[in-house]
Amino acid sequence: MQQLQARRRRGAPGGRRRITHGAPLLAAVAVLLCASVRFAGTSPPPGPVRCASGTANCTVTNAYGAFPDRSTCRAAAAAYPASERELLRVVAGAAASRTKMKVATRYGHSVPKLACPGDGGGGGGGLVISTDALNRVVAVDAGRMEITVESGVTLAELIDAAAGGGLALPHSPYWLGLTVGGLLSTGAHGSSVWGKGGAVHEYVVGMRIVTPAPASEGHAKVRVLAAGDPELDAAKVSLGVLGVISQVTLKLQPMFKRSVAFRRRDDDDLAERVAAFAGEHEFADILWLPSQGKAVYRIDDRVPNTTSDDGAVYDLVVFQSSPTVAIQANRIGEDALEATANSAGKCLAGSATIARLAAGNYGVTRRGVLPPPPGAAVVGYQNRIQSSGSCLSGADDGLLTACTWDPRVRHNSFFFQSGISVPLSGAAAFIRDVQRLRDLNPDALCGLEVYYGVLLRYVRASTAHLGKPEDSVELDLTYYRSRDPAAPRLHEDAVEEIEQMALRKYGGVPHWGKNRNAAFDGAIAKYPKSGEFLKVKGSYDPEGLFSSEWSDKVLGVAGAGGVSVVRDGCALEGLCVCSEDAHCSPEKGYLCRPGRVYKEARVCRRVAGDH
Ligand SMILES: Cc1cc2nc3c(=O)[nH]c(=O)nc-3n(C[C@H](O)[C@H](O)[C@H](O)COP(=O)(O)OP(=O)(O)OC[C@H]3O[C@@H](n4cnc5c(N)ncnc54)[C@H](O)[C@@H]3O)c2cc1C
Ligand SMILES: *[C@@H]1O[C@H](CO)[C@@H](O)[C@H](O)[C@H]1NC(C)=O
Ligand SMILES: *[C@@H]1O[C@H](CO)[C@@H](O)[C@H](O)[C@H]1NC(C)=O
Repeated sequence: MQQLQARRRRGAPGGRRRITHGAPLLAAVAVLLCASVRFAGTSPPPGPVRCASGTANCTVTNAYGAFPDRSTCRAAAAAYPASERELLRVVAGAAASRTKMKVATRYGHSVPKLACPGDGGGGGGGLVISTDALNRVVAVDAGRMEITVESGVTLAELIDAAAGGGLALPHSPYWLGLTVGGLLSTGAHGSSVWGKGGAVHEYVVGMRIVTPAPASEGHAKVRVLAAGDPELDAAKVSLGVLGVISQVTLKLQPMFKRSVAFRRRDDDDLAERVAAFAGEHEFADILWLPSQGKAVYRIDDRVPNTTSDDGAVYDLVVFQSSPTVAIQANRIGEDALEATANSAGKCLAGSATIARLAAGNYGVTRRGVLPPPPGAAVVGYQNRIQSSGSCLSGADDGLLTACTWDPRVRHNSFFFQSGISVPLSGAAAFIRDVQRLRDLNPDALCGLEVYYGVLLRYVRASTAHLGKPEDSVELDLTYYRSRDPAAPRLHEDAVEEIEQMALRKYGGVPHWGKNRNAAFDGAIAKYPKSGEFLKVKGSYDPEGLFSSEWSDKVLGVAGAGGVSVVRDGCALEGLCVCSEDAHCSPEKGYLCRPGRVYKEARVCRRVAGDH
């Protein structure tokens, strides 16, 4: 035990383990490749809608090319309205024929099957309405400090337009490739419990939304919502089930500077620090590296405009374009580590990822190139610091480089992404539980560090019906997903136990735009205002034309059934929480077992020949 802890502290994978060559070596080489070569080009991600003939006979997917249940979503047709008037006509036409509808966006970055109209099955009769052409900035009002955009405008475009008017969106997700309509609909956020908090929907002061309407009103109408309108609390986080958001008005602030420093420490007192830290810095977050026993605290505050400027730029390495060959080498390397159950190799790969992050000062550099000395502060303007995503933009290089998860790349990075908010009141106890689990086998969590580590971010309680019910800390977990749905994952029991602990023992709620099916089980019951939300839904879209099989299940609509898919192997993909061995992979030695710390958890654990 002491040995384990000492090893963890050093942040180095152990020396006692036998390291097989090949795979980790390949991964290490790939990492070096990525680190040393930066291209000016990229291959912007593809869109989520593909139609066999013009705008008919379409499939809808997400940016990863796979929904949690790997089903294909079919739609009879796609529409690309370029104005609110066209949008109104599209919705009216579909409503008149009682056609199921859903909105798709430029890239479709949500993990769950949110953008699929109807049941998306073989019949595939639905209509997918893309906001790709609803991409205009309508107005930047410097006097009122507001911006109005069409819903298909991306976060990158929004931030740029606001900055052009000397204004800033105070909080945003860390990834630039989201659209305003999409990020609002899933409650997306940055990190803060100061003021109104870190979720973008807290800054919505107006919205225009196109919903179905009675035939007497032409089958569709535009509803105009203003600040203080109670229906805005439903519309600002709506999972896309109320209608199509046409325009959004956001309250901005005068452009400001931030000072950002990353302080890496042992995680011994993380449980004691996690809630307090939220109050200490406006843009606080924590990157937790559980297997290494470290936590990287983001000391990030607004500073006066007069503070001398370092030209700070955020360009997170995992959101940069990578050479396709490096993406492939990494993936093939990790596939091999999984196939050979090579924990040591995973830890090596995790250390390499984190070392690379740290070397680049966790993405925040001076003028986009120079990392400051470790722990030093970097100052710059909000619009250059708040989000990143350089793999989205740049000259098209024909897939020489791409975002690592681009589904057009063979052997692309393929992962699960969980986002779970734990109420801040229980955060200390939650962290302690995870640390107890970690101490039983630190290597079991190395797989999380291969994909960046556990990002802890703060989100405030919201007035939005489907916003966070309480001040919370959200943990983001990203981890390997096999191409083979029947393949168990190395040490998957540890991550499953953490997820179930967060959701069930500590009353957490899943991010609407992330996670696997089982995480949504019972989630809606944790939202005290979900009844009010369903009332608004009933009045905006009484026939449920914007509702799908998935949204009905998630929202607990009567008769829709549960979100879990129970079948052999279902727990391997998070489609269920296992209740019998067949839900895991008995033939590969993975059986359904209780958690090690949270005994009520049910996880797939490799039983035969386990350390
Ligand atoms: C690399 C990466 C980083 C991320 N980082 C963060 C982060 O830092 N913080 C965070 O909170 N989340 C983050 N996410 C998750 C992300 O915020 C959500 O998945 C977000 O909803 C995706 O937005 P999108 O524009 O791609 O929408 P989509 O995924 O295409 O759509 C989401 C939902 O919104 C609906 N919708 C979209 N537009 C409209 C409209 N105009 N009217 C009505 N309904 C609409 C869709 O029908 C769908 O139901 C990240 C995701 C990725 C891939
Ligand atoms: C739709 O496209 C699929 C292939 O994507 C094809 O097999 C099918 O025949 C097409 N259906 C129609 C009605 O065009
Ligand atoms: C800070 O500077 C920016 C850009 O120079 C300006 O637009 C903004 O209004 C200033 N903010 C304050 C609070 O003075």
